[in-house]
Amino acid sequence: MCGIIGYVGTDEVVPVILDGLGRLEYRGYDSAGMAVLGADSIRILRAEGKLRNLEQRAYHEPMHGTTGIGHTRWATHGAPTEANAHPQVDASGDIAVVHNGILENYAGLRRELLQDGVELASDTDTELIAQLLGRESGPLGERVLRVMPLLVGQYAVVAVCRSEPDTVVAFRQGPPLVVGIGEGENTVASDVTALLHRTRKVLYLENGEFAVVRADGVELRDAAGAPVEREVETLDWDAGRVEKGGYRHFMLKEIFEQPDAIRNTVRAYLDADRSGVNLDGLGFSTEQLGKLRRIHLVACGTSWHSCLVAKFILERLTGLPTEVDYASEYRYRDPLLGDDLLLIGVTQSGETADTLAAMELAVRGGALLATVCNVRGSSSWRLATSRMLTQAGPEIGVASTKAFTTQLVALVALALALRASRGLADELDRKLITDLQRLPMAVEEVLRTDRAFYRLGTDILSEATDTLYLGRGILYPIALEGALKLKEISYIHAEGYPAGEMKHGPIALVTDGFPVVAVATATATRDKLLGNLMEVKARGATVLAVAESDADDVAEVAELVLPVPAVHPLLQPVVAVVPLQLLAYNVAVELGHDVDQPRNLAKSVTVE
Ligand code: F6R
Repeated sequence: MCGIIGYVGTDEVVPVILDGLGRLEYRGYDSAGMAVLGADSIRILRAEGKLRNLEQRAYHEPMHGTTGIGHTRWATHGAPTEANAHPQVDASGDIAVVHNGILENYAGLRRELLQDGVELASDTDTELIAQLLGRESGPLGERVLRVMPLLVGQYAVVAVCRSEPDTVVAFRQGPPLVVGIGEGENTVASDVTALLHRTRKVLYLENGEFAVVRADGVELRDAAGAPVEREVETLDWDAGRVEKGGYRHFMLKEIFEQPDAIRNTVRAYLDADRSGVNLDGLGFSTEQLGKLRRIHLVACGTSWHSCLVAKFILERLTGLPTEVDYASEYRYRDPLLGDDLLLIGVTQSGETADTLAAMELAVRGGALLATVCNVRGSSSWRLATSRMLTQAGPEIGVASTKAFTTQLVALVALALALRASRGLADELDRKLITDLQRLPMAVEEVLRTDRAFYRLGTDILSEATDTLYLGRGILYPIALEGALKLKEISYIHAEGYPAGEMKHGPIALVTDGFPVVAVATATATRDKLLGNLMEVKARGATVLAVAESDADDVAEVAELVLPVPAVHPLLQPVVAVVPLQLLAYNVAVELGHDVDQPRNLAKSVTVE
C-alpha cells in the first residue's frame, strides 16, 4: 500500500528511483511520481496508472540530478489522478513530499490553510504536509520538527527542499521508514525490498523520529529534536530472493518455495537434537508462563486464517482457551485483558495498522505480547516482547502463500512449547515433531502433482461466477483461505463456509454445475463433510476436492480430486492449502489477470 523511495548520493537519481519504485510495485498502487533536485530547482513528474506510464514520461522529459524522491500511491484522499499523485508540492514550489498513510485532522488543516489564503492544487492530505512545511522557514529538518506536532494520524513522509539539494528528510508516525546505509550514498524507503540490492545495512526510524539524510551521513532525531543513537542493523535477506528466478510470477515462485520456507521455519524452532521445540528466544519468564490462562490471536486476512487454524492447535495442545479476532474488530471491542492473557499478533509484514493497534491495546491492558511475523525489525517485531520469525523470506506476490504456511508451522511450534512449559508433553509431541520435519516433503509431493489435475479444475472454475469452498473443523479455515485466494486474484466470487452450516442458507445458491470446492482430507469429521457434499451434489453441484489420493469415498463424490499425502490431522492445513493456492493461481492466469498485483489490493495495509 503506497511505496516510498528517496535517494541522495552520486548516481543519476531517475533510474535509482524508477528501479526502487519497480521493487515496490508489489505493494499495490494506482499512480506514481518522482521529484528530482537540480542546482536550484525541483522537477516533478507524475503519472496515473502503472509505473510504465511514469517511465515513459521520464524518457520523454529527461531530468538529471543525484537527489530525489519517488512514490507509488494507493489512493485514499482523492481519486487516483495525476494531480493527486505524489510528490505533492507547496505553493512556492520549494518543498516536495511523498507520504504513506492518512491524516486524521485533514479537514481542520485544510480549512486552516484555505483561511490563510493558500491555494490547494489537489484533494490530498499529502499536499497539506507540503504546504505546512512551506509555511515554515529555515532548514528542512527544523521545519519538520515544527510541523510534526500539527499532524494527527498515520504518516511516513519523505521531503526535499529546493534550497537543500543534497538532503532528504524522512519522518514517521505509524507506517514504516527505513534508511539504507551505503558508501557515499544513502537511500530511504518504506520497505527494505526497495533497497536490498544497494545495501543490507539499515537503520529503522521509530515513531515520532525524523532523519536528515545526506550522501555522507544520517542524523537521527527524536520528536524534540534531540539526537538519537541507534545501531545500524544488517539484514539477512539477499536481493536474489526478491527476483522472479525464472518463474512467470512471484506468486508461483513463492508457492514453490514453500518446502524450503517450511523447512527453515521448523528448523528455527527445533532443539539441536531435534527432539523438542526451542522457544528460548521468545523470552517468556517462568512467572509469566505461570500466570497464563488464556490466549487471544489477532490478525487480518490470510493471517487471520492462520489464527483460526491455530485456535484448534493451541486449545488441543495447551488446554488454554483461545479466541481469534479480526484485529480491526478487536481494537474497538473492549476485550477482556489482563496479565493472565497472551496476545499474539500474527502478521507477515509486521506493518498492518489494525494488527498493530490491537497489539498496542493489549499491552496497555497488561497482556503478555507476542508476534508471529515474517519481517525482522518491522513494527510488530519491535512492539512485541516475544517474537517468532517465520522464515519465509521476502514475499512479493500480494496473495500470501509461503508466509501463510510458515505462520501455521510457527504457531504449531509455539503450541508445542507452551504445552511443554505446562508439563503436558507426551508421545503426541514426539509424533508431531517428527511429522513437522516431514512436512516439507509432503508439500514437495503436492507440488509434483501432475498438472493435468489442475487443468480440469481450472476449466471448471474459470467459467464460474460464484463458488463455494467447504471444510469442517481445522480445515474450515483452509476453505476460507482457498476462497480468499481465488477471489483476490481471479475476481471470481468465492465464499468459504463450514460445511455443516451450508444448509442453513448458502445451499440455496447451488444449481446445476455450481462449483463446490471441498477440503476433504482425513479428519474425524470427513464422513460428515461427505454427507454435506452429497447434499450439494444432489442439487447439481460439481464437486472438486482436496483429499488423500487413496480416499475412494471422496473420489466417488467428487468430479476431481486434487491429491495430497496423508499427514497428522493437526498439520493437514499446511498441506491442504497448497492445491488451493495452485488452483487459484491457474485460474487467474487462465483469465489473464495480474496475479502478483491484483486490482485494489495492497501488500501491506498500513492504514486503518
Ligand atoms: C491475502 C493477504 C492479506 C494479508 C492481510 C494481513 O492473500 O495477504 O489478506 O494476509 O492484509 O497482512 P499481514 O499478514 O501483513 O498483517
